[in-house]
Amino acid sequence: MKTADVRADIPFLKEVIYLDAASTTPTPKPVVDAMCNYFYKFNSNTGRGAYRTAVKATSEFEKTRIKLAKFINCSENELIFTKNTTEAINLVSNGFNFKKGDSIIVPNIEHHSNLIPWLNLKKKGINVKIVEADQYGVVDPEDLIEAIDETVRLLTITHVSNSIGAIQPVEEIGKIAEENELLYMVDAAQSAGHMELDVKKINAHFVAGPGHKGLLGPVGTGFLYCSQQVINDLQPQNFGGGTVVQVTENDFKLSKVPARFEGGTQNIAGVIGLGAAIDYLNKIGLDKIEKHGKRLTKMMFSEIEDIENIIVYGRPENIYDIVGFNISGVNSHDVAKILDEQRSICVRSGFHCAIPAIKQIGAFELGGTVRASIHYYNTDEEIKILVETLEEISKFLGD
Ligand SMILES: Cc1ncc(COP(=O)(O)O)c(C=O)c1O
Repeated sequence: MKTADVRADIPFLKEVIYLDAASTTPTPKPVVDAMCNYFYKFNSNTGRGAYRTAVKATSEFEKTRIKLAKFINCSENELIFTKNTTEAINLVSNGFNFKKGDSIIVPNIEHHSNLIPWLNLKKKGINVKIVEADQYGVVDPEDLIEAIDETVRLLTITHVSNSIGAIQPVEEIGKIAEENELLYMVDAAQSAGHMELDVKKINAHFVAGPGHKGLLGPVGTGFLYCSQQVINDLQPQNFGGGTVVQVTENDFKLSKVPARFEGGTQNIAGVIGLGAAIDYLNKIGLDKIEKHGKRLTKMMFSEIEDIENIIVYGRPENIYDIVGFNISGVNSHDVAKILDEQRSICVRSGFHCAIPAIKQIGAFELGGTVRASIHYYNTDEEIKILVETLEEISKFLGD
């Protein structure tokens, strides 16, 4: 499938230049159709009824687990559906048995969703050791090694930084975690569906990700991969219907994994849509997505960098699908508003839910950055329009 074919499946892209994939991606028609098919033809609950449409709903829901497990290279019973990445990370921070005196290593480049769940454990006496990234948003594995001592239980890091797109050496860090017998968690919010995500290669115990960003699934979907090695040590956080096999008035026995983690009625339509999204990505081909992304990122970075009065963040050879920049002396929200008003360009501005990361790259005083983020549906032409519009804005408004 070509970029033009994907664009034809997303009518919304005729109206706007959508450069905010890092927040969420528009949903292609076959994904919406799969959800409509559920609503129109077998809208029943999963894991409960014996009647045919309920059985069909369960089987379609579970098919997504099989597809996603294959996509990230794990087994189906290592995959838990969540409503987003944040919920997946919180399931680990709250559901794992961390004890007073334990430490967690977290870089300062993280999205708040992979920082606050850990900082929140401080009230239980758990230490959080923050490791600084460099000015390009990259974490040096040596600095992580330095932070390891006998109190450290878990090391976590994002795969690709959401603020400037910096790719982190997650495989190398996985080896460090293994050598030091640490639990290892990767936040794949900006890599899943954008590049190969092989949880076994990364050697992580936990990988959290969204369905609604790079995977092109609908909002309200996400996942947690939890390795078989540790899944029985993870406590569910949402007890109730669907999580038990035996109940008395005094006690209960949890069902097997992963059902025990998916309490209550799930986002059935969303998960079925996510299954269609995985089929869709496979139809395009992840290698093609990656090649397209790398080329457009490089082009976007170098053309924006050439504009007078513009600061671009990150090292061009190590960023992917995300470019952060500022026009000197101009607030990032003002730039984003003008881009929208002039050419219907949708970019995010501000701190990107990553205040420490924005401080680290030196953009805090400027009120954050403007962030353009892409996927396979974006074109060279769209990047050219972004660059042209930025040139005009920078002439009028820049220092
Ligand atoms: C790196 C990173 N982690 C976590 C999140 C939170 O993702 P979600 O909205 O799926 O909870 C985001 C969202 O942008 C992100 O970029």
